[in-house]
Amino acid sequence: MLKASFLYGLIVFLFGITVFHMGYVRNYEGYILTANFLGLSGFVMIAVSLMLGPLMVIDPKRFASLIEARRSIGVAGFFFLLFHYLVVLTKYYSLDMEAIFRDPSKLFGSIALWIFSILALTSTDLAVKYLTPVKWKNLQRLIYIAFPFSFIHFILELDDSYFSQKPLDLENIFYHLPELFAILLGFVTIALQLAGFYIVRNKKKR
Ligand code: HEM
Repeated sequence: MLKASFLYGLIVFLFGITVFHMGYVRNYEGYILTANFLGLSGFVMIAVSLMLGPLMVIDPKRFASLIEARRSIGVAGFFFLLFHYLVVLTKYYSLDMEAIFRDPSKLFGSIALWIFSILALTSTDLAVKYLTPVKWKNLQRLIYIAFPFSFIHFILELDDSYFSQKPLDLENIFYHLPELFAILLGFVTIALQLAGFYIVRNKKKR
């Protein structure tokens, strides 16, 4: 059985590494470090909360104890992303909302953020009761649009040096380590979601 405290500890450890890496390896300062740190951390938290569902289906004995942590990690991830947006809106765009909608990457990010807002607002027991469990579950399915959209935004925001790097250029890999880890986590999350889907469907058929 995995403990929620272990998972929270691991996430905070990852935050530490990310800030250290961005501050000391890349010399990012102020709002650039804040924007990238918040975006990356929020994405990782949402991915972790999405991975826990299928993991509970695959290995309930080990992961069932993390059901409550799943919700709190998802909601915390949403707040990281909300502040990511606020930093970008104020410091990169000086509150010019129209300019945001003209950029496809930011449009994908914005749609994802609106959906995450709805899901965070309806993540309470009261909302489940009010909406009825069936409607609530259907609403939660919007995550299958929001997560890929946020992933597309993330990939589009990567700077050119990711794509121009020679294979096995270790220095470049080290430089981009936090993003490479998050991209891997994004793909693992999607793979686990599909596996969970498949297992549940097969169980229902039997
Ligand atoms: C829920 C949705 C979102 C997620 C998961 C997300 C995540 C990310 C991630 C992971 C990065 C890359 C950080 C890096 O390269 O280290 C990023 C960058 C960025 N995001 Fe978002 N984001 C979201 C929403 C938004 C929104 C709504 C906006 C603005 C309208 C936005 C604007 C930006 C900008 C400008 C950057 C580039 C920052 C820089 O490199 O200086 N993001 N985002």
